[in-house]
Amino acid sequence: MFLSQLDIFQVRNLQTVRVCCHPQANIIYGANGSGKTSFLESIYMLGRGRSFRHRDLRVVVNNQAEELVVSGRLHRQPAGTQHQIGIRRTSIGQFEARLDGKSLQSAVQLVSELPLQLIDAHSFMLLEGGPLQRRQFIDWGVFHVEHGYTDVWRRFQKTLKQRNQLLRHGRIDSDLLDTWTAELAPLCEVITEFRRGYLDGLADHLSRAISAFDGLGEVSLEYYCGWDDSLSLDEVFSRDRVRDITTKTTNHGAHRADIKIKVDGRPAADHLSRGQVKLLVYALKLAQAGHYRDQSGDSCLFLLDDLPAELDYQHRGQVITYLNKLGCQYFITGVDRRDFEALVEAVPHAMFHMEHGVASAEQA
Ligand SMILES: Nc1ncnc2c1ncn2[C@@H]1O[C@H](COP(=O)(O)OP(=O)(O)OP(=O)(O)O)[C@@H](O)[C@H]1O
Ligand SMILES: [Mg+2]
Repeated sequence: MFLSQLDIFQVRNLQTVRVCCHPQANIIYGANGSGKTSFLESIYMLGRGRSFRHRDLRVVVNNQAEELVVSGRLHRQPAGTQHQIGIRRTSIGQFEARLDGKSLQSAVQLVSELPLQLIDAHSFMLLEGGPLQRRQFIDWGVFHVEHGYTDVWRRFQKTLKQRNQLLRHGRIDSDLLDTWTAELAPLCEVITEFRRGYLDGLADHLSRAISAFDGLGEVSLEYYCGWDDSLSLDEVFSRDRVRDITTKTTNHGAHRADIKIKVDGRPAADHLSRGQVKLLVYALKLAQAGHYRDQSGDSCLFLLDDLPAELDYQHRGQVITYLNKLGCQYFITGVDRRDFEALVEAVPHAMFHMEHGVASAEQA
């Protein structure tokens, strides 16, 4: 999967940007504040319907404009089909996503059309942040390889929300609580099964990605399902009943899941250096891309913000080599053109110089 053309209108300081993208390597360099991250943010919005920098897309619309528009020509493999996808967001909050001229019901459809991975200065949070980050990591993977997952996940979120709303009421209708509990338990089990299956499938890809990088030890991923799994969920919910009512929330379930990430048997976040943590994040996301490729026959797209600031020279080279091996299209930003000279010599690419929101393609 790759984008051959990208049109960006009124995203932050990018007023009108139209570029032909390389199916493999795309490099965007330029001074601080020139618009490099906004360029990646535009692609991210195209694939996710939201920004990775701000919850409210109105902030992302250029200050002088009423709306932002991003559209792109998408090539899918192995079918070889082409699609036009686009999003539009107005400064008063309207949102529209389109695929081949038709409006989409929700941003979820964008996500399945344009599977993308972002790695930026905040990505170390996958290891050092809370469990939500790791659940999002695993759910990205399951969503892209298991078609039934979206439906189960939505039903689970809805049921959990209803159970929690009930628990927040002063006087609890006991029968209704039993009803929501009986609905929630099997959904927790199904989600757990999907996630465990996914992590099992990911393990091989992870060892391959890890062995491509110097300086990481033996990495293992252990899934914690969100409750004490020596008990059945019925036992957990009946044991938790009073506690759930007192604390007004559902204390155990698939929404409390986590992945314990260990290196050489020890928690990764506790003893790796920041650089090694970042490298492990790359390995985890590259492993997901490898797994996705195996399952779908297609590649996913990578957005790597300020790569030279994130990794040293040698590890940067290893990441690029791995991305090339997986056949991924990638967009890399950096301040200094010189940081990309070795890459430019090694692989076919497109290079763009970003200046005050204007992207100029350099002749290869
Ligand atoms: N809504 C907006 N309208 C217009 N300009 C904006 C808006 N939001 C942010 N900007 C400006 O857009 C510019 C581009 O920001 P961006 O983060 O993309 O730069 P960058 O090239 O990634 O810089 P750095 O190298 O510092 O990371 C900045 O100068 C910022 O002040
Ligand atoms: Mg930036």
